[in-house]
Amino acid sequence: MGRRRLWTGAPPGRNPFALPRGLRGRLAGRIMARANRACNAELLAWLDVRAGTHVLEVGCGPGVLVELLTRRPDVRVTAVDPSAEMVAMAQRRNARAVRRGRVHIHPGDAAATGVDDGRVDLAISVNTVAMWPRLDDGMAELHRVLRSGGRAVIAWHRRPARFALAGEELSAVEAALANRFGNAERTILRGSVVFSAVKCG
Ligand SMILES: C[S@@+](CC[C@H](N)C(=O)[O-])C[C@H]1O[C@@H](n2cnc3c(N)ncnc32)[C@H](O)[C@@H]1O
Repeated sequence: MGRRRLWTGAPPGRNPFALPRGLRGRLAGRIMARANRACNAELLAWLDVRAGTHVLEVGCGPGVLVELLTRRPDVRVTAVDPSAEMVAMAQRRNARAVRRGRVHIHPGDAAATGVDDGRVDLAISVNTVAMWPRLDDGMAELHRVLRSGGRAVIAWHRRPARFALAGEELSAVEAALANRFGNAERTILRGSVVFSAVKCG
């Protein structure tokens, strides 16, 4: 069976890891919370998020990166996910920070985050870009919500190898980011390939 063609405008389909729904979706969320913790932690260590940063996470899944971010002093997080199950799971995982108003988690997706223009210092999306129906819709949304000088970061699994994107798919992500931001860098970490860009002007 061939791989699904990406960024055709179609939603990700019935894979519970791509768009978690119902009981299978909640189970997938619990698995992702464990399996993706290390690559999220590695990405965060590489990012060096400073105090005072307002982070938007697009496609937060079970909320592990949100949890790791709230361990940094004075970091505020807005997180969105199109799955109601993942929004609920991420809210439960981060209940105290949500109550304190440091974290806001609500339904949304890469093309429509519900965040006002220019509000965010850092917009991150981890292991979601292959689920976006259209690449440029997501890039345009990240660009819109970032302040001038803010940074967009898109990471995708390198391992296990069956999750890795093909070379031309990685190039398509990089090109779409560069097309929208006017710049893009690719960094290879142990667990992820990371694309980043700065909003100029
Ligand atoms: C493989 S999980 C990754 C979750 C989390 N970021 C992690 O690293 O564990 C993919 C997530 O992307 C979300 N998703 C699906 N379509 C999306 C879209 N168009 N925009 C943003 N997120 C999407 C899913 O609901 C799911 O929570």
